[in-house]
Amino acid sequence: MKLQSQIPMHIPVLLEEVIHALEVRPGGSYIDCTVGGGGHAAAILERSSPGGQLLGIDIDPQAIAVARERLSPYGGAAILINDDFQNLEHICSNLGFYPIDGILFDLGVSSLQLADMRRGFSFQFDSPLDMRFNPSQELTAATILNNFSKDDLAAIIQRYGQEPKSRHIARSIVRSRPLSTTLQLAAVVERAVGTRRKIHPATRTFQALRIAVNQELERLEAALKQAISLLGSGGRLVVIAFHSLEDRLVKDCLRRESRDCLCPPQTPVCVCGHQATLKLIIKKALTPSPAEIEANPRSRSARMRVAERI
Ligand SMILES: C[S@@+](CC[C@H](N)C(=O)[O-])C[C@H]1O[C@@H](n2cnc3c(N)ncnc32)[C@H](O)[C@@H]1O
Repeated sequence: MKLQSQIPMHIPVLLEEVIHALEVRPGGSYIDCTVGGGGHAAAILERSSPGGQLLGIDIDPQAIAVARERLSPYGGAAILINDDFQNLEHICSNLGFYPIDGILFDLGVSSLQLADMRRGFSFQFDSPLDMRFNPSQELTAATILNNFSKDDLAAIIQRYGQEPKSRHIARSIVRSRPLSTTLQLAAVVERAVGTRRKIHPATRTFQALRIAVNQELERLEAALKQAISLLGSGGRLVVIAFHSLEDRLVKDCLRRESRDCLCPPQTPVCVCGHQATLKLIIKKALTPSPAEIEANPRSRSARMRVAERI
């Protein structure tokens, strides 16, 4: 089946920066926890040849099918697994995939998923309110929108969308039930908040629902801990986030793990015994150049953080 020709390409963001940060070298072993369309993975395989290996994971079976075709020239050097990255330790122990020189997370939704009219990630066209990365999961955006209480909806939209008008939106959603398509939802939000905004009025609500449907923050937190413990000494962890909640979680995790003591500042002697497991390679997040943003506007909100296993 010719998958590549039917689906738009996903342009990997910060590609050269990722390869540099991972210190990809021939013979190295790498994990791409969000293999998606296989763009970063192909570059890692290219630079780790000869003798390199890449384990690519994605929760979306369609992404794995696209990556499989894209990475077929690399034969057995690419191992692809359709699973949740929060099962990282389990996946590596099943495959005996150790030691690991570098782990990449390129979070969020791919252009392939955004452009797929059946998935409901975009309000550019009318789709069912799905938003699942994993199509066999039960919870969809429609379930949340049509069944959760007004207060729970407002909390989701406020927390994950950082939407100041979350209560207005939740009230309008409840009044407009049942909702079944993305354009219906976008219109309801627009009516609730008005159109005088820099971004589309429904952007924050769609982000919030996607995060809630896919439990993105909880899964990421669990996976980061495992990734750190799986890296060999000197191994690199690279994480690209696309919104501030995700980036804050990554920043806090990497900062915490790069400190020897987590006791409150006024504690005279350390009682926590925490030992740093990471060294921060860059103190501030790296962002795409203006040229990259111009060539690939989707990259504009990317923030990349890098740490090294001690
Ligand atoms: C931005 S895309 C990655 C694109 C990829 N770097 C490339 O170059 O094509 C993010 C991918 O992460 C996947 N994903 C999201 N949550 C996941 C999870 N919990 N476990 C595994 N994959 C996940 C999505 O299905 C999506 O394909």
